[in-house]
Amino acid sequence: MIYRSWMRNQGFGAEVFDGRPVIGIATSASELAPCNAHLHRVAEAVKRGVWQAGGFPLEFPTMATGETLMRPTAMLYRNLMAMEVEELIRANPLDGVVLLSGCDKTTPAMLMAAASVDLPSIMVTGGPMLNGKYRGTDVGSGTHVWRFEEELKAGRMTQEECFFAEGCMARSNGHCMTMGTASTMACLAEALGMQLPGSATWPAVDARRFETAQEAGRRIVAMVDEDLRPSRILTREAFENAIRVNAAIGGSTNAIIHLLALAGRTGTALALDDFDALARPVPTLVDLLPSGRFLMEDFCYAGGLPVVMKQLVEAGLLHGASVTVTGKSVADNVATAACWNPEVITPLDDPFQPAGTGTAVLRGNLCPGGAVVKQSAASPHLLTHRGRALVFDSAEDYHAVCDDPELDVDANTILVIRGSGPKGYPGMPEVANVPLPSKLLKAGVTDMVRICDGRMSGTGYGTVVLHVTPESALGGPLALVRTGDEITLDVPARTLTLEVGDAELNRRRAAWRPPRPPSDSGYTWLYGEHVLQADQGADFDFLRGRRGHAVPRDSH
Ligand code: FES
Ligand code: MG
Repeated sequence: MIYRSWMRNQGFGAEVFDGRPVIGIATSASELAPCNAHLHRVAEAVKRGVWQAGGFPLEFPTMATGETLMRPTAMLYRNLMAMEVEELIRANPLDGVVLLSGCDKTTPAMLMAAASVDLPSIMVTGGPMLNGKYRGTDVGSGTHVWRFEEELKAGRMTQEECFFAEGCMARSNGHCMTMGTASTMACLAEALGMQLPGSATWPAVDARRFETAQEAGRRIVAMVDEDLRPSRILTREAFENAIRVNAAIGGSTNAIIHLLALAGRTGTALALDDFDALARPVPTLVDLLPSGRFLMEDFCYAGGLPVVMKQLVEAGLLHGASVTVTGKSVADNVATAACWNPEVITPLDDPFQPAGTGTAVLRGNLCPGGAVVKQSAASPHLLTHRGRALVFDSAEDYHAVCDDPELDVDANTILVIRGSGPKGYPGMPEVANVPLPSKLLKAGVTDMVRICDGRMSGTGYGTVVLHVTPESALGGPLALVRTGDEITLDVPARTLTLEVGDAELNRRRAAWRPPRPPSDSGYTWLYGEHVLQADQGADFDFLRGRRGHAVPRDSH
C-alpha cells in the first residue's frame, strides 16, 4: 500500500498498479545544459508510447552535464552522472528505462549506467540543432566558434559581428549540429543498437523526433516483455560496429574514451589499438564539419545513419547479425535505407575521404600507453613532422603568453601542453587544440603540431596529438619534456618520439616530483583517487563491470 498510495497523489488510478511494466524515463533536461533543455517535451512523447503499449511511464530527472557551462570540464562529472543514473535506476521499482540524453557527456554517462544495471533500456537522444545560418552561409556549432574567435583575434571580424553570428549559430533547441561529440555519441548509440534506427539525426525540433520518441516508448514495453537487456546488445561485435561507424562518420576522438569506458562496464575486452585496426579499412563517408562541409540537418535529409550502416553491412564491414533495441538485427534495421544526397553521404567506392585517414593511435617513448590524432581534422603536411618543443605545464600558462609578439615560436615549433590529463587537471578537459600564437596567426599560419594529455572538442580541428598516456601528473614521459627538445611525429608509422636518450630521460625522471593533487576532499578528491587513464576510458576503477538490478532488502 505504501508504494501505491503515495503515487496516487499524482492522480494515477488504482488500475495502473495491475502489474503492467513500470517504465522509468530518465531525463537529463536542464536549463544549465541548453542542449538538453527540451527533453521534457521528448519525455511527453515517450510517455504517449508507453501508455499506448500498456506500460506505466514515470519521468525522473537526472544530473545533466552541460558542455558549455560546467567547470573545470563536464568530463569531470560524466562518471558522477553515470553513478547517479545507475543508482536511480536500481533503487526504484522499474522494469525498463528510457534514457533521454543530448549534450556530449550525457549520452555515454547514461549508457554506462544502463550497462551496469542491465535492465531493458532504450536511448532517445534529443537531436541536433537546426543548421546555423549566418550571412548566407551555414555555420556549425563549436567549429565556427573557434573560427570566429580566430577571425576576431586576427582583426577580420568585429565584436559586434561576433555577437550577431553567435545567435545565428544556435537558433533552435538541440545539441551541436556539427559531427562533434554529441552527434557522434548519438550516432554511436544507434550503431551500438541502443537507439532506434534513424533516431540520431532527426533535428531536435523536427516532428519526427517526437514520433521516434513515441515509438521508443512503445518499444521499451515490448523489450521488457522480451527481456531484451543491454547485456544482449552491448557485445564485442556491437563495439566493433560502433568503432567502424565512428570512422565512417568522421566522428569525435572523444568517442574513443567513452566507448572504452562503456566496454569496461560490460566486461568486453576492448583496447585502444582496436580503434586503429578496426577503423583502417573504413573510408569516411559523411562529409560533415569539422572535417567536411555539411551539418547534421543535411545528414538527416540525406537519409541519416542507416544509409551509412547499410553500405558498411553490404561491404562486410559491420556485424549485420548484432541484435538491437528493435529486437531485430542491424542488417534488418537498415535494409530499406536509401541515400537522397550522395554529396553528404558519399558512396563507399567514391568516399569523402579514403580508408586509413581516420583517427590514428600512436605509440612511442612519449606515449607508452598510447595517444590519438584525428587525421581528418589535421593538416596533411604536418602528419610527418619533426620540430622543437615549446613546453607549457598548463593551458593557462600558454594562454598567458600566446599573444606575446616576442614568443619564441615559428610554424615548425611543436606546442606541448601538459597537466591536462584525467587526474592532473582534473577531468581531462578539451584544451588540447589551443589557439595558435597571435604572431603566427597574423603571419597567415593556420596550423601547427600540438601535443597534450587532454582532449579536444569533437568540433575542433588542427594537427593535435591527444590523450597522451600516461598523463604528466602521473609522471608519464610527457612530464619530462623540456623546451628545446626535438619531437618527431610520424602518423603513417603511428609513432610519437621524444628525441632524447634514455639515460637523460632517466635522470629527468629521478628529479621529477608529482604535482599536488587538485583537492583533498569532496568529489574532486574521489575523482583523483579513482579515475583511470584515457586508454581505459577515464572511468572510475570501482565502477567498471556490471552490477545488475537486484536489490536485496526492502525499505520498510
Ligand atoms: Fe552540448 Fe555541443 S555543447 S552538444
Ligand atoms: Mg563538445
